Amino acid sequence: MSGKIQKSELRYVESLSPGDGYAPARAWRAHGSIQLSLDGLWRFRYGQGLGDLTAGFEAIDFDDGHFDDITVPSSWQLAGVPGPPRYGSPAYTNVAYPFPVDPPHVPDANPTGEYRRHFTLPPEWDFSGSSIVRFDGVDSCFALFVNGAAVGHSQGSRLVREFDITPLVRAGDNVIAVRVHQWSAGSYLEDQDMWWLSGIFRSVTVINEPAGGIRDFFVRADYDTEHDAGILRVDTDGPAVVSVPELGLAAAETGIAHRVDAEPWSDEHPRLYSAVLSGPAGDISFRVGFRRIEVRDGQIRLNGRPVQFRGVNRHEWHPETGRSLGETTMRADVVLMKQHNINAVRTSHYPPDPRFLDLCDEFGLLVIDECDLETHGFALVNWRSNPSDDPRWEPAYLDRIQRTVERDKNHPCVIMWSLGNEAGTGRNLEKMAEWVRGRDPSRLIHYEGEPDAYYTDVYSRMYTGYEELDAIGRRQEAITADSEHDQHRRGLPMILCEYGHAMGNGPGGLSEYQALFDRHPRLHGGFIWEWIDHGILQANPAGERYFAYGGDFGERLHDGNFVIDGLVFPDRVPSPGLLEVKAVFAPVAITIDPVARTISVQNRHHTAGTGAYRFRWRVEDGGVLVAEGALNLPVVPAAGVSRVSFPPELIDSITPELRNERWLTLTASLAADTSWATAGHEIAFTQAQLGQPAAEPPDSPAAGATMVLAGERPDELAVGCAVLAAETGELRRLGRLAVHSASLDFWRAPTDNDVRGPAGPVAGAWRRAGLDRLQQRIIAIQRGEDNLRIRLRIAPAGADFGFLAALTWTADPRQAGDCLLSIHVAPDGTWPCPLPKVGLRLVLDDSIEEVSWFGRGPGEAYRDTHRATRVGRFSAPVDLLSTPYVRPQENGNRMHARRLSLSGRAGRSLDVTGYPHFDFAVRRWSPELLTAARHTPDLVPDGRSYVHLDAAHQGIGSGSCGPRLMPGHTLAAHAVAYTLRFSA
Ligand code: GAL
Repeated sequence: MSGKIQKSELRYVESLSPGDGYAPARAWRAHGSIQLSLDGLWRFRYGQGLGDLTAGFEAIDFDDGHFDDITVPSSWQLAGVPGPPRYGSPAYTNVAYPFPVDPPHVPDANPTGEYRRHFTLPPEWDFSGSSIVRFDGVDSCFALFVNGAAVGHSQGSRLVREFDITPLVRAGDNVIAVRVHQWSAGSYLEDQDMWWLSGIFRSVTVINEPAGGIRDFFVRADYDTEHDAGILRVDTDGPAVVSVPELGLAAAETGIAHRVDAEPWSDEHPRLYSAVLSGPAGDISFRVGFRRIEVRDGQIRLNGRPVQFRGVNRHEWHPETGRSLGETTMRADVVLMKQHNINAVRTSHYPPDPRFLDLCDEFGLLVIDECDLETHGFALVNWRSNPSDDPRWEPAYLDRIQRTVERDKNHPCVIMWSLGNEAGTGRNLEKMAEWVRGRDPSRLIHYEGEPDAYYTDVYSRMYTGYEELDAIGRRQEAITADSEHDQHRRGLPMILCEYGHAMGNGPGGLSEYQALFDRHPRLHGGFIWEWIDHGILQANPAGERYFAYGGDFGERLHDGNFVIDGLVFPDRVPSPGLLEVKAVFAPVAITIDPVARTISVQNRHHTAGTGAYRFRWRVEDGGVLVAEGALNLPVVPAAGVSRVSFPPELIDSITPELRNERWLTLTASLAADTSWATAGHEIAFTQAQLGQPAAEPPDSPAAGATMVLAGERPDELAVGCAVLAAETGELRRLGRLAVHSASLDFWRAPTDNDVRGPAGPVAGAWRRAGLDRLQQRIIAIQRGEDNLRIRLRIAPAGADFGFLAALTWTADPRQAGDCLLSIHVAPDGTWPCPLPKVGLRLVLDDSIEEVSWFGRGPGEAYRDTHRATRVGRFSAPVDLLSTPYVRPQENGNRMHARRLSLSGRAGRSLDVTGYPHFDFAVRRWSPELLTAARHTPDLVPDGRSYVHLDAAHQGIGSGSCGPRLMPGHTLAAHAVAYTLRFSA
């Protein structure tokens, strides 16, 4: 087409204004009126920058034959995935802007998508009414044309924008054209920690509204906790009456309050009522939930009762479609959350696809609805020119919060408006708060970035350490400069809007946080960071699939795998972290007193009694079921505790003779089907040991017997099933299993929590100390009558500290063929850091296929992440013992094994018993390979089996973004002694 686009025509890109030509914000709804979805294939051209645009592409008769096809909604950088991206590529940064901080300017290389499509309005379209086009989300800035005419511009990616196109549309063929720019002034306000993705990534709809119809309405549904009544007022912008048939409310006046005999809505009982708004131009259906959220007596109360958030931060993510989600995916998130005892979501860091909130209303999740605002990158320039405190940006700030509140105001699930995330502080945020207070005083205002919280209703923090949180709980946090604000803040209830950084293996230390939430009424819980790993599905040349992270698309500036920090893997498979969360968030806490033979059940719900749960007990000896039965408990009211004695059948099953460890397990499960799980779904469990046989001594050699024998080969010795090199003490065989090596091991492939973190990464200290390059020296090999003792010194190059160790092999006189290995390790000198672990690494030339054990299971566990595991008998194929963390790292540890059986091919097997318990992991690759791997396909089995039999591990924590590991979970270098019995 003719001519070039004038620079002046593109001024909107760097304009501080949120846009022009658009319609005022209003509540989003699946309108009763006629709608035409424009989702589907559009014509598309990718331009490299503002100098590479197609003049006249909006014209009706423009020939777009040379354009490509693209799906709307989608982000153009993800077209082609899992293959190579077709248009530009995804880029990930956390804090830094991927362009110079030069507001409001953006680079000349500003990738731009030119979108076009034809559409025909359905025959029933009423042209006497209005025609509105609604964009649910366009990243980051766009210009709209309809039938060749310019309509308007908009910024604000994750917010709805509507345009009235009544005068422009007609019966028959119409053409819509949209020019979308990757960068705009608005990008400065959208520096969330996530992939930079662009395009029309949420739905586009053309809506037909009858003349004289209601444009917008505000459902104010309160719950009077004193009189147990609902109060409904619906404000409309036109004449209408409201009916809620189930409540006997018929054609009631709008704009005034009506008292109704309604049940309250809550996350625990998401009661919704169908309602209709009738106006001269027709009806609008909607749903009402009555509830009150308030701060009273320094506490957050839902329908009058103090509420605790057992929440998660949720970004919208799908490994193939990025931030474009279908309803099935949104539903999957909600169902998974409910199944894992999560009761709250913070929509970090932008309003979600509007359909998500419908699901939260329906299933019962409390929502902090966050505005699409973050200017974190200004932190890197000392907050100079931060838009949050620059009055020129005020209209953009107000526009963003108005679009958030107006769109979502009718959802009972939304209990707080969040002004944004990490945008520093300043007058524009204050203005936003002021506007929200005027428009919707029924909800609380949240924002974490103002340290004194002087314009918010809750004191919010992220990643606070345990001690400080405890002080906050006691309202004894450190004093601030301004006493007026100090008092205000100190009076506020507190939440952790982010904690428990779920990056890689972890988060650990959650139960200690939960204990503080439970102890201090001021603390209302928090929101785990975060729900999902934002990995992008890719395939390597061999066709193996894996999830990509920052840097994998050639970005010059990126933050690596910091975007992989969720409780579910990118494909929504729960990680061990989610199971830990489920256990820690359990809405009933069951405790057993085995001595008094009582069980107590504490109901942690704010409203619901325990009537929805069925409690059962189960006694196992050595992991084998002895007896089980129902536990009949009276219904425990919300926030109540009840204690009962062991039922008689349980007592009867506790027989005096004891050959094995005896454990009692109690479970609480759903008594009936719900919308999110079927009857029998377990929501909580606990265990207590009821008895233990007298400890059998691991080694009691027969006096005088010669137990160390010559091996089959002259250079070998045999001690029970162990065959060792006579000269070096190296282990060569255990029964029929060929051993490649057996060595003491102090290394683990650092987890993200080991590698990163403001608290000082421990993995750096490990490497500096040389724990990944230890050398060994045999001090002596002593062959006794009944044992073979190998004394060693193990130490890093260049250091004078190390370990002194003794490995003592003894044949077991009671069990022919068995042998015992006693391991003693003690630090020699002063170690400058804690240790990753202390254990034995057994590398077998044979391949182990199946593993079974008695100990903690079935899942991965470490000293501060074992709440989801229980003591029992478990088995698993080796391939399922590893957890496929997106960036490979230490994983798959099983805790407190008493006995372990490894089975290989051709019936070759090995049994291991620990004195005391040991931790184990079995993998097909070495810790060194695991340390070096960047993606899962890098973990190539080498034909051997790596069997780790460990005495102790460092905890996990959440140091990648959070406090240092708790002292009780660190593994200081200290003397360790344990014994393993091998039967092969
Ligand atoms: C917070 C931020 C989140 C995320 C997290 C670390 O500071 O609000 O968006 O970056 O840290 O993963």
